[in-house]
Amino acid sequence: MKLGKHLLGIEGLSKEEINLILDTAEKMREVAERPIKKVPALRGKLIVNLFFEPSTRTRSSFEIAEKRLSADTLNFSTGTSSVLKGETLLDTVLNIERMQPDAYVMRHASPGSCGFITNYIKGSVINAGDGPHEHPTQALLDALTIRQKKGGFEKLDVLICGDITHSRVVRSNIHLLKTMGANVTVSGPATMIPPYIEKMGVKVETNFEKALLKKDVVMMLRIQLERQEKALFPSLKEYFLTYGLTEERFKLCDSKCIVMHPGPINRGVEIASEVADCKDSVILDQVENGVAVRMAVLYLLLGGGENETSN
Ligand code: CP
Repeated sequence: MKLGKHLLGIEGLSKEEINLILDTAEKMREVAERPIKKVPALRGKLIVNLFFEPSTRTRSSFEIAEKRLSADTLNFSTGTSSVLKGETLLDTVLNIERMQPDAYVMRHASPGSCGFITNYIKGSVINAGDGPHEHPTQALLDALTIRQKKGGFEKLDVLICGDITHSRVVRSNIHLLKTMGANVTVSGPATMIPPYIEKMGVKVETNFEKALLKKDVVMMLRIQLERQEKALFPSLKEYFLTYGLTEERFKLCDSKCIVMHPGPINRGVEIASEVADCKDSVILDQVENGVAVRMAVLYLLLGGGENETSN
C-alpha cells in the first residue's frame, strides 16, 4: 500500500493507511538505537521546512527526521525571511519552488494554507499545523504512543480537554481515534467547544470531573490565547480551578490511565506539575515518537524503497 502525494490532514486517511504509518514508525524507531543514526533512504532529496508560526517540537523533530533519512534540508522561518518585508505566502513559495525542493513541511496560521500551496508546487506537502484546522503528524505520534502503552484503540475511552475550538490537535486526533475505533469525549468550558464537534462523533461533557470518570487516556490541551479574539473564561486561575488536571482529579480516571499533552504545556493552567511529571505521564514519550513518525511520513511520501532503511 502507498500513501497519497501529500499529508494535509488525518481526515480521509483509512485505518490501513494509519496502521502503515504507525508500523513504519516502529521500524524507524530502531534507527535511533543504532550507533550511526542515519539511513540513506532520502539521499539527494531536498526538503524545505517552512515555519510561519513558532514551534519547538514539530520543527526540531522534522529536521532530525530529515537528517536521519539523509535528506538535504532548508529551514525557513518568518523572523529571518522577506515575509517581514511584506512578501506573501504564495510569492515565497513560488520563489522557493525554483530551488527545486522535493517536499515542503509547512506550518501556517491560516487553515487550508497547506492545501493551497499544493496548487503551485511539484513536490509533496506535509501539514505541520495549519491554524485551527489539522496537525496530522501530532495525531500520528499521539497514536503511536497510545498503541505502545495500551496495545490498540478499539473501545478505548479517550478524553480530550481544553480549548477545543482553536485546537488543530483535537481535530486530527478525533479523526484518527474515531477511525481506529476509540470512544472520544471532549471537555472544557462551553465557550471553547464549537457546536459542530458532536457531528464528528464525539461526546461533549463540560463537567470535567464527570468527564474524567474511568477514562483510559486523558489528553490535556493548551489554551490558545493567541487565537482567541475575546476572553472565553474569567482568568487562568479560575480555569485551573475548574479544568486543571490535578492529582486529585486524575484519580477519577481508570487506575491505568495515561496522561498526554501535545505541548507546550502551561503548568498550573491546564495541568498541575505533579501530574505532568508523574509516572503515568507519557508527554515526553510523545515527543520521542515524533521523530519516528515524521521519518515514517517522509519516507512513505517521498517514495523510499523497500530495503532502504538498512545501512
Ligand atoms: N505539539 C506541537 O506542535 O508543538 P510545537 O508547537 O512546539 O511544534
